[in-house]
Amino acid sequence: MQTIDKFNFAGKKAIVRVDFNVPLDENGKITDDTRIRGALPTLKKILADGGSLIIMSHMGKPKGKVNAKYSLSQIVDEVSNKLGVKVAFAPDCAKAADAAKALKPGEALLLENLRFYAEEEGKPVGIEKEDPAYEAAKKEMKAKQKDFAKTLASYADCYVNDAFGTAHRKHASTAVIADYFDTDNKMLGYLMEKEVQAVDNVLSNIKRPFVAIMGGSKVSSKIGIIENLLGKVDRLVLCGGMTYTFAKAHGGEIGNSIVELDKLDVALGVEELAKKNGVELVLGTDSVCCTDYDFASFSVKPGAKIEVFNSNNIPAEFEGLDAGPLSREKFAKAIEGAKTILWNGPAGCFECDEFTAGSRAIGDAIAKATAEGAFSLIGGGDSVACVNKFGLADKVSYISTGGGALLEAIEGKVLPGVAAIKGE
Ligand code: 3PG
Repeated sequence: MQTIDKFNFAGKKAIVRVDFNVPLDENGKITDDTRIRGALPTLKKILADGGSLIIMSHMGKPKGKVNAKYSLSQIVDEVSNKLGVKVAFAPDCAKAADAAKALKPGEALLLENLRFYAEEEGKPVGIEKEDPAYEAAKKEMKAKQKDFAKTLASYADCYVNDAFGTAHRKHASTAVIADYFDTDNKMLGYLMEKEVQAVDNVLSNIKRPFVAIMGGSKVSSKIGIIENLLGKVDRLVLCGGMTYTFAKAHGGEIGNSIVELDKLDVALGVEELAKKNGVELVLGTDSVCCTDYDFASFSVKPGAKIEVFNSNNIPAEFEGLDAGPLSREKFAKAIEGAKTILWNGPAGCFECDEFTAGSRAIGDAIAKATAEGAFSLIGGGDSVACVNKFGLADKVSYISTGGGALLEAIEGKVLPGVAAIKGE
């Protein structure tokens, strides 16, 4: 297999898939640049070798339509600053042949959002799976996806995939494109290599106790990984919004808190499986609750009340937004002494100062365990944002740029973005 370290990019045009799906504020300013910083070693190596760089990425889920909100033009200046060269911008990723051709050694071009074309994801648009014409539409779209990938491939002599965050997607730019390069001219980038190694560290080199902390609002979106982890970990901390689905499943009063009423049996099933596997399941017992929180601006509305309640006994007008003091203590204790740690998903609405304490307690406990020799892997946009917000980035072992991709990798699934290069 070709590797980025061995490859000399001098005089070559390299098309690099990165994951610049970074969070932006309402003014289009990047609020967390971890993913851009993560791709810099690969991008810089190509330029330093004397290669030309064609950078491609998606942002958000524009579903095959041009949408200014997701335009990568918003980040081109920041990419230029970080890369130290003025990066040109191609406003249509499928019509960038001339711009790519004009690139000289040491020059860089950023393509507009790949997902402005439905061909990138390769899913037929505007037709439901139940429609009898769906299969034909899917076949047609798959053919178009190949053409789209071929167009992107035609811009360059070699292909580098450094988009770990998107490696679980079998898209034109992450997997299909690899078919248009021979083995010697396609490779993983440095970030991708590091990420794959970090996952491997957790999975094949588990030092015990292994403690995983899963947060986030929904049990349903995490159930695959939770079940999988219950076969691997010694302790599993479940926090964040899913706390209330567990509380409700036991008949608790959860006020206005977020809940998946159709997943109460799933929550009970998780508890059952933990018991069967001898895993200590750690759930919060109290919550910091609020009567009126604005999720759009991450702020407490004027006049709203904030109080701590038992998570099974939250008054009707309150909703749980963070782990309470007893829960925080419990979480920290569960992390203490761990030798392998995985954290995905915050314990509360950490974007608002009133509700950061739960995630902070987890972050601090992980930093402490890491200082005492644990290997800690943090993944998922929100947990990474927490670690950065609390200034703990250099106190954990590894911060992954992957959310869904990291979880699928930990589940042991083959990532199409990696397989397309490795030929698995
Ligand atoms: C992510 O943010 O996890 C990646 O960029 C992948 O995005 P997606 O879930 O929209 O494919």
